[in-house]
Amino acid sequence: MKITVVGAGVVGLTTAAGFADLGHFVHCADIDTAKIASLSRGIVPYHEAGLESIVTRNVSAGRLSFGHDPSKALAESEMTFLAVGTPSEDSGEMALGALWSVVDRFEPWTDKGRRVVVIKSTVPIGTAERAEARLRARLPENCEVDVASIPEFMREGSAVRDFFEPTRIVIGTASPETAERLTLLHQRLPGPIMSTDRRSAELAKLAANACLAVKISFANEIAALAEQTGADYPSVAHSLGLDPRIGPHFLAAGLGFGGSCLSKDTRALVRIADEAGAPQTVVEAAVRANAMLPLRMVRKLEAALTDPSRRKVALLGLAFKPGTDDVREAPSLRLIAELKRRHPGIAISAYDPGANAAARKLVPSGVEICESAEEALKGADAAIVVTEWREFRQIKAHDFKNWMNRPIIMDGRNALDAAALNAQGVVCIGVGRLPAAPKESAATASRKLSELA
Ligand code: UDX
Repeated sequence: MKITVVGAGVVGLTTAAGFADLGHFVHCADIDTAKIASLSRGIVPYHEAGLESIVTRNVSAGRLSFGHDPSKALAESEMTFLAVGTPSEDSGEMALGALWSVVDRFEPWTDKGRRVVVIKSTVPIGTAERAEARLRARLPENCEVDVASIPEFMREGSAVRDFFEPTRIVIGTASPETAERLTLLHQRLPGPIMSTDRRSAELAKLAANACLAVKISFANEIAALAEQTGADYPSVAHSLGLDPRIGPHFLAAGLGFGGSCLSKDTRALVRIADEAGAPQTVVEAAVRANAMLPLRMVRKLEAALTDPSRRKVALLGLAFKPGTDDVREAPSLRLIAELKRRHPGIAISAYDPGANAAARKLVPSGVEICESAEEALKGADAAIVVTEWREFRQIKAHDFKNWMNRPIIMDGRNALDAAALNAQGVVCIGVGRLPAAPKESAATASRKLSELA
């Protein structure tokens, strides 16, 4: 089948390369000419595990091509997938400008074939219907087109695996024929396929991300309660996860959720729900709870370190999660803002194994971006583990002690072996757990920390 995918971000490019790998002829279009030039040379201009090799393989096989003009997509292919960005406006509303500008550029075709446009981008409920009405109003009557919604649940960092092993494929259409064509197209993928209407498919995506956000915020609030009451959150989370009704995923407490999707989609859902007269108070609270986490971390740092304004703090990790070079809406950025707001004189060094280049464009001036963990930790009075990259687990207690001015680690992701580090003279304070021995009272532990500082 001939397919066009519009948008060469993680979702668009992975979808394009994935369908090409399944044997289809795919053209991927993006208005970003630099990105297209890079892709045409076989270089994926961002980090996504395994993506470059399937792009290269399919370009060489002649099944995948790139361009920057999507206007002939409907004329030249049977199916067109839209995977353009729908960023958040300040109000929380999703900006659909890129989507409409693509839809409004599609040119008519002369043969009789009915075309299918599939919206992959996360969009407000009712967008597929609006897109179809817009296309039908503009195109000549002989150009028949259906717009469907197939939301994308892939995660950054494991997008290729998620394409080939999807948890589910939700096909939202208004006609049984289109549903059947799309089911056939996805049949070789192993995930369960479910057919529904377009509005339900659109809401299913927003609801999935909101549900994950709620789970994370719940985890963080229980972790805070564990800290205050002398319980050990990782044990609590383990126990929760053993209940199949709850499940073990998305219960890790830390600095909260970031990234371009969860943050944007939860805000959008809250706004859409308000407008629809069905306020999502639970999701709203999850968003608020997430925003509080950097302040919580800074307060913990203040308990461990006297006069932070005159100290140097190293941040280990800047990406919103490990395995990506993406710093959009990353907790690290909120943490830096909070550190600087409460302690204007603080010196901040930072290192990320994959996201240094992206971070340089977003972190405020004065934050020193370093080329290694050692460089960031040199002379630091405390360090905060912001992103749980594997590399940080390899740092030995004696390295922390040798490099740092004071070996105090605030482990914002419970990534390190706190017990082992504490036993070797490094103060490692996790999230939802007591600084040293789990049985010690919170008051004693924080007194010990102040003494250390
Ligand atoms: C998310 C959804 O998982 C995916 O289905 C959707 O298509 C896009 O949005 P992604 O943004 O790639 O994917 O990141 P994800 O792996 O979901 O993590 C989101 C954030 O939550 C990260 O900042 C991560 O660190 C945080 N997180 C995740 C936690 O704080 N605790 C957890 O237990 C899990």
